[in-house]
Amino acid sequence: ANITFIEASGQSTTLNLPDGWSLMQGATANGVEGIIGECGGSCACATCHCYVDDFLASVLPAPAQGELDMLDNVTAERRPNSRLACQIKASAALEGGVVTLPECQE
Ligand code: FES
Repeated sequence: ANITFIEASGQSTTLNLPDGWSLMQGATANGVEGIIGECGGSCACATCHCYVDDFLASVLPAPAQGELDMLDNVTAERRPNSRLACQIKASAALEGGVVTLPECQE
């Protein structure tokens, strides 16, 4: 699915991610700088914090408890639409989604 990442600088990158890839994997593999993904996607570092748009918020499954707990540790402001990019798996259902990245991850 095509997902657009908007960095805090305003830089926008649209990536066509294979099904099953996490948004963190896709971003880090393609040089999107606003996502770090220090723990490699095991929901243990909170450096893949992102803000999902209304569309994604409506189609994504609710965050699991482990994700909610880790969202307590984000460095930037936590908002109602805060998610961890490593816990969002690309699929056709997410086509056209937009995530905005916070100013800092650590
Ligand atoms: Fe570490 Fe997402 S990559 S919590």
